Amino acid sequence: MTDKDFIPSTYTTDKTEGKVTYKSPSNIALVKYWGKKEHQIPANPSISFTLDTCATTTTVSYKKLNNKASDFSFDLLFDGRSKEDFKPKISTFLKRTEKYLPFLKSYHFTIETSNSFPHSSGIASSASGMSALALCLMELERELNPNMDSAFFKRKASFLARLGSGSACRSIEGNLMQWGAQKDTQESSDLYAIKYPYKVNPIFNNYQDSILLVDKGSKQVSSSLGHDLMHDHPFAEQRFDQAHKNLTKLKRIFEEGDLLEFIKIVESEALTLHAMMMTSMPYFILMKPNTLEIINKIWAFRESSKTHVCFTLDAGANVHVLYPENEKEKVYQFINNELVAYCENGQYICDQIGNGAEKL
Ligand code: PMV
Repeated sequence: MTDKDFIPSTYTTDKTEGKVTYKSPSNIALVKYWGKKEHQIPANPSISFTLDTCATTTTVSYKKLNNKASDFSFDLLFDGRSKEDFKPKISTFLKRTEKYLPFLKSYHFTIETSNSFPHSSGIASSASGMSALALCLMELERELNPNMDSAFFKRKASFLARLGSGSACRSIEGNLMQWGAQKDTQESSDLYAIKYPYKVNPIFNNYQDSILLVDKGSKQVSSSLGHDLMHDHPFAEQRFDQAHKNLTKLKRIFEEGDLLEFIKIVESEALTLHAMMMTSMPYFILMKPNTLEIINKIWAFRESSKTHVCFTLDAGANVHVLYPENEKEKVYQFINNELVAYCENGQYICDQIGNGAEKL
């Protein structure tokens, strides 16, 4: 497939107005995407757990204009209030997707959005937000082309979400999603994410992710800048190669449920992501002292409890604590006794692996 396959030739139906709502989850990468080529093509493949509780709900109301407008026409409401500072990101998204959704300038849109997680919790809302918006727009396209099949619908929703935020393409479905062409994964593509197509051991069913909110402030360095810094990065090629190798290794690990090897890859990926930040030019650090305190506590607890708790990080200071469902009680106790003290205002969110976006 190429991007041209997502350009519609005609629309068979007309639709003057309507409304659609999607709830779309966030996701947490196990093998990380960091560095991209033109048009949001990833420099390396990535794989993530789709989350369940952390989600964005977006309603798009649309009304056909009498004449096609010269620019995009939309209002944006966040938690019921007009949110002007979110509009440029949406405009960029609409610009990037217009070629594939040629109806965009023929409608006025009211986009109402809200997150299940607290505002400015430091949890990135771009994956859930962009995937929810892409799905709503795809739903309108399906009204215009009712014969569209559901496989194409999901693929194109992922393709469009990717143009808003790379990692968003992995939030359309669950519960293990791979994005980026990789030799060992059939059907994998740089254009959209696919459901991981191989056997996954039941130990990963309902895998838990407790997100410790270490720093709720906004990041000093955005992901977009961080991705750009991989262009002249001295270790870029080795890093991209490592991501491919880690995905290859995960195949057996997922199949056999080898948690000890799973932990090694997941934690190494998290630290490598942050090592890339620390070794780019300019260099930067997104971890905070409490991030490191938590990591050390997790290592000590894993050793003493013989559980399989591990951590991963996204592009920020918060820590995702991952563990199998059958260790939930022990890990909850550990989090409450030893980790809560390192969270801002003692806040954390208990989430688990989920099934992807749903239409409401
Ligand atoms: O989707 P973006 O451009 O915000 O980049 C996300 C990058 C990481 O979260 C750090 C890794 C990943 O694969 O999700």
